[in-house]
Amino acid sequence: MQEKRPLVEAMEKFHKQKSISFHVPGHKNGLLSNLPNAIKKTMEYDLTELKGLDDYHHPEEAIKEAEQLLAMVYGAQKSFFLVNGTTVGNLSMIYAACQFGEQIIVQRNAHKSIFHAIELVGAEPIFVSPEWDERTKTASYVAFEVIQKALAEYPQAKAIVLTYPSYYGVSSLQLESIINLCHAHNIPVLVDEAHGAHFRANKDFPKSSLIYGADIVVQSAHKTLPALTMGSFLHVNSNLIDTSRVNKYLRMLQSSSPSYLLLASLDDSRSYVERYNEIDFKQLIYRRKLFIEALETIPQLEIVQVDDPLKLLIRMEKYSGFQLQKVLEQQNIYVELADTYQVLMILPLLKVEHEYPFAEIRKRIKHAVDILRKEVPIIPNDAQLIKQKSISTLHMNISLLNEKQGEWIPYARSLGRIAKGMIIPYPPGIPLILVGEKITIAMLTELEEWMEKGALFQGQHRLDEKLIYVVEE
Ligand SMILES: Cc1ncc(COP(=O)(O)O)c(C=O)c1O
Repeated sequence: MQEKRPLVEAMEKFHKQKSISFHVPGHKNGLLSNLPNAIKKTMEYDLTELKGLDDYHHPEEAIKEAEQLLAMVYGAQKSFFLVNGTTVGNLSMIYAACQFGEQIIVQRNAHKSIFHAIELVGAEPIFVSPEWDERTKTASYVAFEVIQKALAEYPQAKAIVLTYPSYYGVSSLQLESIINLCHAHNIPVLVDEAHGAHFRANKDFPKSSLIYGADIVVQSAHKTLPALTMGSFLHVNSNLIDTSRVNKYLRMLQSSSPSYLLLASLDDSRSYVERYNEIDFKQLIYRRKLFIEALETIPQLEIVQVDDPLKLLIRMEKYSGFQLQKVLEQQNIYVELADTYQVLMILPLLKVEHEYPFAEIRKRIKHAVDILRKEVPIIPNDAQLIKQKSISTLHMNISLLNEKQGEWIPYARSLGRIAKGMIIPYPPGIPLILVGEKITIAMLTELEEWMEKGALFQGQHRLDEKLIYVVEE
């Protein structure tokens, strides 16, 4: 059991010195700040790379030790604390794995940061489409056969990028065989495991892809562990990718003034995972079961359980997830996301000593549902996976596309045009139309469905005026 938290200890030691600041940050231990007192107090710990606090990009002391402990806990050759989220981990692993013009196999429903990375590098993406998960009514993982076909068709690919688990907590039974298959072709597997940082806490969570032999794995510690927002882990366990290349891009893409509050929360999160014991887990599962049973007594409510026990989906018969989200927010219950069908809750990774007001939450959910029952339902249409080929490429190379003029046209007249703006329903942040893709009927149908249900969109679009951005003809 690791009792140490080297970085937290170094910060506490430094703080105790009551030192005088003639250095950055400018708030001078919170003195100049007009923020509420609780935040000002915390600013005393918003330290920087001072003596005893190590150097983030060239660690020799506390940060080095803390990252070594992290690697030991997760079973990696080398692990890094990230201060710009899984986003920067995804960017760095793709920069490390391929170069301009090289092919990279990518899961079609990847997070936008993966697409941004591919565009920045100038790599040529080969998209592999995921399976449809009927339980959650979302796209999930890519099937073994699809990867097998992609490897046969594109043997020059430099890497394969997968998302595991899905945002909705769906894992994949085929991941291990996929990783073995890729390794048999000497192709490294890069995994965006943003939603799986807690898997290491107990053997009865789905397994981390590191255990299955993935080469690089990035996890958003801030999503399910007690880390501050933007805190992530990156683990390297590879004979195929040079760790120093990953390190080089992390140095280039991250700040030279990392937040020590954030770093300390990552050190603490690693310790939290390590100390999370069997009794904590059993008690968590027991409390979760009681909560689900209590919710199931509310008429019209359907609770959907997925592979990850920290994720729970709640549906209300005949009503859309967006409607349910709205009434829950009126009761001050904020969920992770809503979609056409449901809301997604992320449960806390509680230890035995933590209280959580499940009885009160159940009461408020019941109240919200009673209010919603009086509203006109927006019955979700039955969704299907977009009819995409299992393997596809872009219709126009991004570098070429960047040189072309764009124009705004009504989306209803965009069939067959090449998209110049990404359209991403958010959450869950999965691109519906990618830059460089030819617009199809299936895409437009899905776009209309999301719009009807009041979804929000990220990307480059003017959907409030029904306009999208395409390459000028
Ligand atoms: C699958 C996936 N990957 C990456 C990210 C980005 O992670 P971060 O917010 O830690 O940068 C997210 C965020 O929602 C995500 O869902």
